[in-house]
Amino acid sequence: MRDLLVRARVLLSGARSLLVLTGAGVSAESGVPTFRGPGGLWETHRPEDLATPRAFTRDPRLVWEWYGWRREVVSACRPNPAHRAIARRALAGGAHVVTQNVDGLHETAAREEAGAEDPGRGLPLELHGSLFRVRCTGCGRRSADRGRIDASSEETLPRCERCGALLRPDVVWFGEGLEPEVLGRAFDLARQADACLVVGTSGLVHPAASLPLTASGAGAPVVEVNLDPTPLSRTAAVSIRAPAGEVLPELLSAR
Ligand code: OAD
Repeated sequence: MRDLLVRARVLLSGARSLLVLTGAGVSAESGVPTFRGPGGLWETHRPEDLATPRAFTRDPRLVWEWYGWRREVVSACRPNPAHRAIARRALAGGAHVVTQNVDGLHETAAREEAGAEDPGRGLPLELHGSLFRVRCTGCGRRSADRGRIDASSEETLPRCERCGALLRPDVVWFGEGLEPEVLGRAFDLARQADACLVVGTSGLVHPAASLPLTASGAGAPVVEVNLDPTPLSRTAAVSIRAPAGEVLPELLSAR
């Protein structure tokens, strides 16, 4: 393990443009449930009932109840040492954070690590949206929203101030495409990266899982941190099987 850490650290510390791609595993030590595996959200919930446009049309109350619950769970969670180490590296320059997570913990870590400074460089590109943003199903307007969701009936669900239509969580659901602009930026970062760190993702959901493959295809070594092997492990120059919060502070620390 020590040898692997040293090798990975050498690969990452020399990078002038580091792409950091994260998934649910980076937040697991903060107490946020992952999607797959023991205790994962998709073990006890059916995505097609809760995370598709059809599910929302059929039963917006049920969908909002689930997202309201997830908001409450995540609101009680704090960034862990992995989020903090990633934020420090990004704030120092030369690293970009791209996340599949909708929990906002990279952003919180960036703001806290930046203190009185501008957190801009530490803010992640959120491929799958955010639990703490809403989008109007009528006029498409997006806004930040951290309020409590009252899903006791369809009448109490959040509505657009401007046009009165139902608001929905601003997250990407199954069967929906990612925002073209966000996706374009993510692939630009992957093509420009001279190293790529992949943390806590099962690597099963594309296009996110294609980002490390693109970086690798353009010559960037890939370092993976995950508890288990994944389809991305084959592409990785170094795979570290350990909890992200335990290894990232050392892996990303400045010499
Ligand atoms: P998954 O739940 O599929 O995978 C989590 C990964 O994190 C697994 O490979 C675990 O082995 C690993 N893991 C768990 N705890 C860890 C820890 N402490 N340190 C390091 N690794 C750890 O989550 P994602 O890959 O993020 O999409 O899932 C991708 C997408 O599938 C999600 O964004 C979501 C889901 O359906 C949408 O909702 C659109």
